[in-house]
Amino acid sequence: QIPQALAGQHWVITAGPTMEAIDPVRYISNHSSGKMGYALAASAISRGATVTLVSGPVQCTPPAGVNLIKVKSADEMLAACESNMDTPASVFIGAAAVADFKMKTATDQKMKKTSDSDEMQLTLVKNPDIIATLAQDKRANIMVGFAAETQNVIDYAKSKLERKGLDIIIANDVSRADIGFNQDENQVTVITKQTSWEPAKAAKSELANQLVDFICQHSQSTPSN
Ligand code: PMT
Repeated sequence: QIPQALAGQHWVITAGPTMEAIDPVRYISNHSSGKMGYALAASAISRGATVTLVSGPVQCTPPAGVNLIKVKSADEMLAACESNMDTPASVFIGAAAVADFKMKTATDQKMKKTSDSDEMQLTLVKNPDIIATLAQDKRANIMVGFAAETQNVIDYAKSKLERKGLDIIIANDVSRADIGFNQDENQVTVITKQTSWEPAKAAKSELANQLVDFICQHSQSTPSN
């Protein structure tokens, strides 16, 4: 790898979970730790890129030199990405586990138990699809998504590649306890319209380097970039 190969490039990366308020004390979220997204940010910085990391609530230490934007909800994550991608970014990577749904109306006051009922119903509405919105608006030259799946991993990932208008999708089998959410290691299948590639299981930091290299090679072989 040539040192500083990404000098002059702006990469925008999302990481971690989103947190969707139910009321002032409760929320909907998921098990993403942010480790994969933060590792990708560190790798792109080490190669000379300017990196904006839009992060949900996590415990990870941000890499030195990153432009870190902390958000909670999917709406905030989309707004932060858009406001940092007025000029199209070189690469966007959606490593965040965005909650698919949010409360139709989050209440201002703590929801109270009602003594006459053992059930409670919450009405949820779809969150915006951040990566699909950014892809549609051509906010980056190369759009890279992850697909977190527990079954039919490759087929579902391929359909997300098409449906969301992406260049690359990284399929992640999150049914496995040894990789994926909150683990230090990961194993993925990288899928483009032309090829697929399965790097070996590795530490997220090592895998991130391989993924950044793959994205660079893909962007160099894409005529419009
Ligand atoms: O954070 P870690 O603990 O290190 O775990 C890493 C990871 C498992 C979270 C990561 O590798 C991963 O798979 N991230 C994607 C999780 C996810 O939400 O996948 P999805 O299949 O639901 O979404 C597909 C793609 O669309 C993703 O790039 C996601 O960021 C994006 N998306 C999804 C929903 C939505 N409303 N907006 C989005 O942009």
